[in-house]
Amino acid sequence: MYARETHSRAPSRECRISLDSLARSIAIDGPTAAGKSVVGRAIAEQLDIGFFDTGLMYRACTLAVLRNAVDPNNQEAVSTLVRSLELDMRWTNPTSPHIFLADDDVTTELRSPEIEEAVSLISRIAEVRDELVRRQRAIASREPVVMAGRDIGTRVLTDASTKIFLDASSETRARRRLGEEIDSGRDSSFESVLTATRRRDELDDSGKRALRREQAATGAIIVDTDALGVDQVVAACLEAYHDANES
Ligand code: DC
Repeated sequence: MYARETHSRAPSRECRISLDSLARSIAIDGPTAAGKSVVGRAIAEQLDIGFFDTGLMYRACTLAVLRNAVDPNNQEAVSTLVRSLELDMRWTNPTSPHIFLADDDVTTELRSPEIEEAVSLISRIAEVRDELVRRQRAIASREPVVMAGRDIGTRVLTDASTKIFLDASSETRARRRLGEEIDSGRDSSFESVLTATRRRDELDDSGKRALRREQAATGAIIVDTDALGVDQVVAACLEAYHDANES
């Protein structure tokens, strides 16, 4: 289970914050490759709080499913396994937690093609989502964090005073993803990445997730990132945070 309190907290830091931790956390939602991690990490650094990309939890569960040779289409078996997992987050750096399955640091394994292929099957299972939402709320209830995903404003941090929905066209997102893939030494083409981006949107489009702006949480600010640089997006998000928390 979500164990070992001493390791699984975001790093403790002095907080001038008086409101409760869930309300002071920042929820970021949006489709794949909308820039949630880059922007979320930058906001977290500016505010000196932790960042957590919840997609990593879905990926770690997928790794466990594959390692245990559970059929990803067997929803009951997958849910039972996920509920039993010793899934742990350890923050040595506030913006890049390491993900552990029991004592095994699996962080670097979570973006493999096998996981990329299977993760949508796992993340669409309602019982898996219920379990991970519960664990994510537990993380944010200890101290404020910036949390990114697809249901953070709508389900995980419904009380957050700052909710952000990052949007971008599939072409912009594919261009960004292509840059990352080329940087990591992969031989990808724009067309193949665009097809994969659209396919991921289709596969993830279930289970009350916020993938399109009309599905964003009530009260979320919608940032269209097509024509904006990271610094501009971060500035817009920080302005929303300060507006919400300093009145
Ligand atoms: O953001 P990502 O590509 O790492 O997400 C991996 C998978 O998890 C993808 O299928 C979307 C899903 N996900 C989700 O359904 N809800 C979240 N809060 C985070 C990720």
